[in-house]
Amino acid sequence: MITTSSLVDEILELKRERGAMLLAHHYQESEIQEVADAIGDSLELARRAQSFDGQVIAFCGVWFMAETAKLLNPSKVVVVPDRDAGCSLVDACPVDQLRAWKARNPGHVVVSYINTSIEVKAESDIICTSRNAVDVVNSIPAGQPILFLPDLNLGNYVKQQTGRENMKIWQGACIVHATFPARRVLSARSEYPNALVASHPECPAEVLRMSDFIGSTSAIIDWCVKHSASEFIVMTESGVRHSLEKLAPAKQFHFVANENCNCSECPYMKRNTLEKLRDALLNLDPRVELSAEILERARLPVERMLALR
Ligand code: 13P
Ligand code: SF4
Repeated sequence: MITTSSLVDEILELKRERGAMLLAHHYQESEIQEVADAIGDSLELARRAQSFDGQVIAFCGVWFMAETAKLLNPSKVVVVPDRDAGCSLVDACPVDQLRAWKARNPGHVVVSYINTSIEVKAESDIICTSRNAVDVVNSIPAGQPILFLPDLNLGNYVKQQTGRENMKIWQGACIVHATFPARRVLSARSEYPNALVASHPECPAEVLRMSDFIGSTSAIIDWCVKHSASEFIVMTESGVRHSLEKLAPAKQFHFVANENCNCSECPYMKRNTLEKLRDALLNLDPRVELSAEILERARLPVERMLALR
């Protein structure tokens, strides 16, 4: 049987041979986060990928994140441990349906969440992430009508934060966050009366209304670590526990189960394993390949977002 430590040794050796950088999203298994060169939210990982000057990026996250890395640094080989590490938000917005929506709504600026396919990005005016969605929408002149996609809960949150009335929102949802029921947050609050609630904006509006803080995965971690409170109910995927407990070992973190899996894990993110990471580095496959045409069209909306800082 291969032990975790011998697998890690193999991965580190392959990483050296390949001139690779290992990126891990906060929702990856702890053992993957432990071998990574950088852990972050989708925006932080995109920036890390953009500035990398080695040969290979092994992206331990979901496919759209790896596509974004390739888009921002196209001369690098970008591999993902499991090709089927997808995202329910990507599936919720097929590009032909977006084209039809745009045709029905001429004159609208299209703001797409980074959790979209590369084809959808190519049809967009600007991209946003959970970290900067409010700033991205605020950067668009007041009065300009907006199409926001594909996450309904993030869209409603951004609409409420920016006060934009003329913003239409696609009806997509994350199977993890959108199925966190408010009543389970209420019972967690009565079980842990001293705990503060920190939520990802993909959660339902009723959950966001009960929250003391709303932000991206990294923003949630930073807020919980820096806050003077010592107990938190964390309304996002439980992979963030890894960094939370490392950075604030004396604090307590409680997770709430959703109604999809009765857990708080993203089944797509959890498809990646150390074995698959080793194989991806060995075979340089599954590998992201993008045509010159799609690269050209999808890069501008992503670069517009990054230029906002
Ligand atoms: P972050 O941008 O906060 O990393 O979120 C990505 C994601 O997929 C949330 O479910
Ligand atoms: Fe997609 Fe939700 Fe998984 Fe994030 S947690 S990758 S939004 S399915």
